[in-house]
Amino acid sequence: MKFFIDTANVEEIKQAYEMGILSGVTTNPSIIAKEGKEFKAVMKQISGIVGDEVFLFGEVISLNAPEMIKEARELVKLHKKFIVKIPMCVEGLKAVRALKKEGITCCMTLCFSVPQALLAANAGAAYVAPFVGRVDDIGWEGTRLVADIAEIFAVQNIKTELVVASTRNPVHIIEIARAGADIATVPSKVLFGLINHPLTKSGLEQFLKDWESVPKN
Ligand code: E4P
Repeated sequence: MKFFIDTANVEEIKQAYEMGILSGVTTNPSIIAKEGKEFKAVMKQISGIVGDEVFLFGEVISLNAPEMIKEARELVKLHKKFIVKIPMCVEGLKAVRALKKEGITCCMTLCFSVPQALLAANAGAAYVAPFVGRVDDIGWEGTRLVADIAEIFAVQNIKTELVVASTRNPVHIIEIARAGADIATVPSKVLFGLINHPLTKSGLEQFLKDWESVPKN
C-alpha cells in the first residue's frame, strides 16, 4: 500500500516528501480553501516541490460532464502525473468515460458503496476513492466498505485502484492495508504520527546511553 498525503499545505508536503515515503498528494475543494490561495498557484507550487515522480490529485468543481471535461483538460497541464478527481454522479460517470478516451486519468471521488465503486470502474476510472472516516461518522464501518470493494474488485478482476480517503487514525491504516487498498491518502497529522512508537523512542535512548560507556580510543 502506497502513502499519499491529503493536504495542500506546502510545508507539510515538503516534510512528507523529504521523509522519502510520499507517492502522491490529494486535494479537494475544502482542502484548497484552507490554504487561502488561488487554486492553480497552489497546485503549481506543490508540483514544484514533489517533481515528476509523485502523483497530484485535484478535483473539478463543475456539475455537468462537458464542463468537467473542460476543467480536466486544463488541470492536467499543471503537473506531469496529474489525476483528475471527478465526483460520483451521472455527469461524473459520463465525464470519466469521455476523459479516458482522451487519455486523461480520473479518480472517482465521494464513493460510499460497492455499487458506486463498480459503476466508477465500468466508466473507466483508474482510481476510486472510498471515504473510510465519513462512513464511520454515520455509524457504519468504513473499513468494511473498503474490504468489500477490494474483495469484489479482485473477484471481478477489476484493475481500478483503491485510493482510500478520509483516513483518520492508525487503525484505519492497518485495516485498509489488510483489506488490500492500493493507496492510503492520509492527513498530515495522522501521517507524521505513524512514525512514533514509545518502544522505538526508549530503545534509541537506551542505545545512545549505553554507547557512552563504550571506550573511545
Ligand atoms: C478526499 O477527497 C478527501 O481529501 C479527504 O480524504 C476527506 O477527509 P475528511 O472526511 O476527513 O474530510
